[in-house]
Amino acid sequence: MSLQHHKDAKLRYQQQVDNSRDYVLPFIQQEFPTMEGLRVMEVGCGEGGVLTPFLEKGCQCVGVDLMPGRIALAESYLGDYTATGQLKLIAKNIYDVDFLGEFQNSFDVIILKDAIEHIPDQEKIIGHMKQLLSPRGQIYFGFPPWYMPHGGHQQICENKFLSMVPYVHLLPRPIYKGILKAFKEDESTIIDLMEVKDTGISIERFERIVKNTGYKITQRRFYLINPIYKYKFGVSAKQQWKPIAVIPYFRDFLTTCVYYMIKPN
Ligand SMILES: C[S@@+](CC[C@H](N)C(=O)[O-])C[C@H]1O[C@@H](n2cnc3c(N)ncnc32)[C@H](O)[C@@H]1O
Repeated sequence: MSLQHHKDAKLRYQQQVDNSRDYVLPFIQQEFPTMEGLRVMEVGCGEGGVLTPFLEKGCQCVGVDLMPGRIALAESYLGDYTATGQLKLIAKNIYDVDFLGEFQNSFDVIILKDAIEHIPDQEKIIGHMKQLLSPRGQIYFGFPPWYMPHGGHQQICENKFLSMVPYVHLLPRPIYKGILKAFKEDESTIIDLMEVKDTGISIERFERIVKNTGYKITQRRFYLINPIYKYKFGVSAKQQWKPIAVIPYFRDFLTTCVYYMIKPN
């Protein structure tokens, strides 16, 4: 079932702002109690709502997104900040930005909120971002783990029944694609869902990449109920139960969202 926020950019922006203000910023602030003047970049910033509370706190921000249309919306909501130079918006693929020229060792915080599961070759990008961090810099990640009930983003399906079927994205690729076609999903939706099947990331794979690329985890939080559901569906956020959170692989199937902060070793 395509939800209202999939079609209404202003609503999507407001949900990003509220979720960031209530959950993302306080999580990051545990590592950086003084936020004024902090240099922050968001990769996959969409409409820019995640950055808004950081701008309000006086952070210097850069937002990068692949889609020019979403960057144009961010400009329309946050034009006052771009006018003063407190915010810079870049419409580019993160792999095409010449960061090392402009941004080497620049950022205290890099944010990837619901973005890492859309970016290919995650080991490469996570390793590369080390060069963009300031000496005290850390990277925040928030994402839905691949094996969770709707980890395939099937909620974007037009068909209401299909959008609610848990774990359907874990079926073998041809069967999953066949089901999407049988339910007459748009070709563009099928392409998007197949892309997520390629790039979706589990808790275990994420932690392996973090270790292999020379980072350590400074904070980790697992949610049974993703905080964003509060703004999308009116359901309260709930952290994962400890006995489940400590069981590798099993926790992946029951954890709808994870937050991490990592820093280079
Ligand atoms: C699900 S949205 C998340 C938007 C926002 N961060 C939020 O939390 O609502 C993922 C965003 O990542 C962007 N994205 C995906 N791959 C990217 C890449 N390689 N470079 C830059 N942005 C990318 C997409 O265009 C999209 O706007």
